[in-house]
Amino acid sequence: MRLLLLLGLTTCAALAPTNVFDGILSRVALSCSEDLLLMDDLQKITVRTTEHDYIASTSSGDNIVVKEPKFTSVVTSHDVPKKTMNAPSSTFFQKLGVTNSDGQPRPGYSSKLRQCNKFVEIVSRLVLLPTLESRRGVKVLDMGCGKGYLTFALHNHLCEKLGPQSVSSVGVEVRPTLVDDINKIATNLGGNFETLSFAVGEIGNYDEGDTTEDGRVSALIALHACDTATDDAIHQGIKNDVDVIVLSPCCHKEVRRYMENNDIKGDNEHPYKNLLKFGVYRERMAEHLTDAMRGMLLEEAGYNVDIFEFIGGEHTAKNCMITATKKSSSSSAAASSTRGGGMEGTSRIEELRDLARLHGIERLRLADLMGVDLGVGGGTRGDIVRGRMPPK
Ligand SMILES: C[S@@+](CC[C@H](N)C(=O)[O-])C[C@H]1O[C@@H](n2cnc3c(N)ncnc32)[C@H](O)[C@@H]1O
Repeated sequence: MRLLLLLGLTTCAALAPTNVFDGILSRVALSCSEDLLLMDDLQKITVRTTEHDYIASTSSGDNIVVKEPKFTSVVTSHDVPKKTMNAPSSTFFQKLGVTNSDGQPRPGYSSKLRQCNKFVEIVSRLVLLPTLESRRGVKVLDMGCGKGYLTFALHNHLCEKLGPQSVSSVGVEVRPTLVDDINKIATNLGGNFETLSFAVGEIGNYDEGDTTEDGRVSALIALHACDTATDDAIHQGIKNDVDVIVLSPCCHKEVRRYMENNDIKGDNEHPYKNLLKFGVYRERMAEHLTDAMRGMLLEEAGYNVDIFEFIGGEHTAKNCMITATKKSSSSSAAASSTRGGGMEGTSRIEELRDLARLHGIERLRLADLMGVDLGVGGGTRGDIVRGRMPPK
């Protein structure tokens, strides 16, 4: 740990441009190194900064001697610009109006650029290895693709990694004028984008058809598909047995309505009454609950699920991401047989119902689409609350 700290400091120092910074860092680094010499029975430590090498040693007994600093020339060969998934100067970003002709983000587009590249990084991490192992092509569906920034970015990156002949992507969007515009951009760009297209349609009704060699979609993504459009997207993923589903949901209005209209606020017994009397917490709870319940339903459908913040909140307030990767058929069959198979009556679904009942949530679109009854009739919220309250 301490050695890492030291290495970290020297690395920082190697980047430090001024003598002042160098001086401060070397003093800190030297004091750490003295600590190390004493505690770890070492004999000699070299602290290298942009200006000097400092050598601390215990060669003359217990005393720590710091030798006169020696000048070392700065090695810059390892200073390479940070690699991003798609360079802002990429022609497609310019054509889409995300960046200008100098490759700089247009005003208001820096955050979108970051979101796209982070999203691409995460999806490709989940998709590339299995694709290379299976030697299959990749088929991507972007649901509610809007102006297609993410669709272009992911498609381009996958083409760079796998070759354009192995990648095909479709963006689905309900607004025809947008679809028309971005189809034209893809066609005019050609090259990697020959296998990228956009279709006008409702996410829930989109029929993929068997367009890949083996009829499979490798990845279904949705970035900020509005409200229950995210549920439609997840359901399409589950229905089509898609390997990887990655979503960043947006405006959780469906569950928010239950938070607003149920009687938790006025229920003196409810453990959340002092939380949910505040609008901001009702909004946040609606988000957390919706996505947690979506995660449970995805798990029930045979996926490994993770939920996390994919980017800092300064870039978007809607920065939660759900990733779901299909379990191998053997592991999901084993899990299903331990649970007794099927969806209804499993403990997971009971847990889902408990969570829904506790918060007065009667319906969730994804549950409806999957034929899962949240079972509000099977008990009252009060029962659950009392069951969950710690003993007095
Ligand atoms: C907030 S925008 C996000 C666009 C894009 N994914 C992005 O992040 O840049 C949501 C998009 O989803 C589209 N959309 C919403 N509901 C839809 C549905 N049911 N079917 C297809 N598109 C939908 C909207 O028209 C809008 O363009």
